Amino acid sequence: MNRERQIIDDYRQLGIVEWDGPLGAEVTGLDLRQALAPEVWAEIQRAWLQYGVLCFRDQQLTPAQQAEFARGFGELDVYPFMRSSDAHPHVIELVKEASSKTNFGGLWHTDTSYLPEPPKATVLYAVEVPEQGGDTLFADARAAFDDLPPSLRHRWAGARGIYTPRLVHGSTGVYGDADVQAELGARYGDEAGRAEAEVEHPLFRTHPETGRKSIYCSLVHTLRIVGMSREASLPLLTELSEHATGDRYVARLRWQPGTLAIWDNRCLFHYALNDYHGQRRHMRRVIVRGDRPR
Ligand code: SIN
Repeated sequence: MNRERQIIDDYRQLGIVEWDGPLGAEVTGLDLRQALAPEVWAEIQRAWLQYGVLCFRDQQLTPAQQAEFARGFGELDVYPFMRSSDAHPHVIELVKEASSKTNFGGLWHTDTSYLPEPPKATVLYAVEVPEQGGDTLFADARAAFDDLPPSLRHRWAGARGIYTPRLVHGSTGVYGDADVQAELGARYGDEAGRAEAEVEHPLFRTHPETGRKSIYCSLVHTLRIVGMSREASLPLLTELSEHATGDRYVARLRWQPGTLAIWDNRCLFHYALNDYHGQRRHMRRVIVRGDRPR
């Protein structure tokens, strides 16, 4: 899954090395500390829409430089459940200490799909990575949607779900425990009420830029299908989630210090593997504002 291959493509301003797998590409030849010309930006945006996730190796970015790069994709957003870094109001530090057990994002999800307008992009930068483990998996929810049986797609075409942070951040959620929150650096004091908020989004969303449809609901953010109980909703939510994250839709990013990745939350799921207990992992995360899923 990790073998990477060079592709011949019509990118003129960038080197593109496709990941081995159904999505993702490495962009070569750029130093993201430098101002990028408009034609370079245009190709980065095009590659991002095509591949869903891009990575850039061997960068040396300060929090401000990372935020500046992210701003090239749109207005920056604030993640509601973590303190931002002292160094920058839009950057959060994701640190899993060698002594910690819980990691951030260790479930198949797309970022904060429980918000009315979830972020369109996440920009993650590796400061320190374990010698082994700590990779991130990405799943292509567009291809997974295309492969759904037509009868299932049509039956649920207009269906909507109730999305909530409760399953993850609520008192009984994965991160509900106060010790876990402290380990993660979460800020729940004034945000606890938000964990109970609910919002309605489609189960399948249409990408606002490419027009492609993808599976959007997940087991961790979608509480139930509108008009149905959670119990009655779970078989379909489970089927869609297991289908969308099946091996044929998944690619793996192996981080190195200085790797920056940007992924499209409107059409991918991701999963931060938690297979490196006893080692430290330190990432910096910035999100870019998105629109209401349709
Ligand atoms: C996230 O889910 O945003 C974090 C992913 C990672 O740390 O690999």
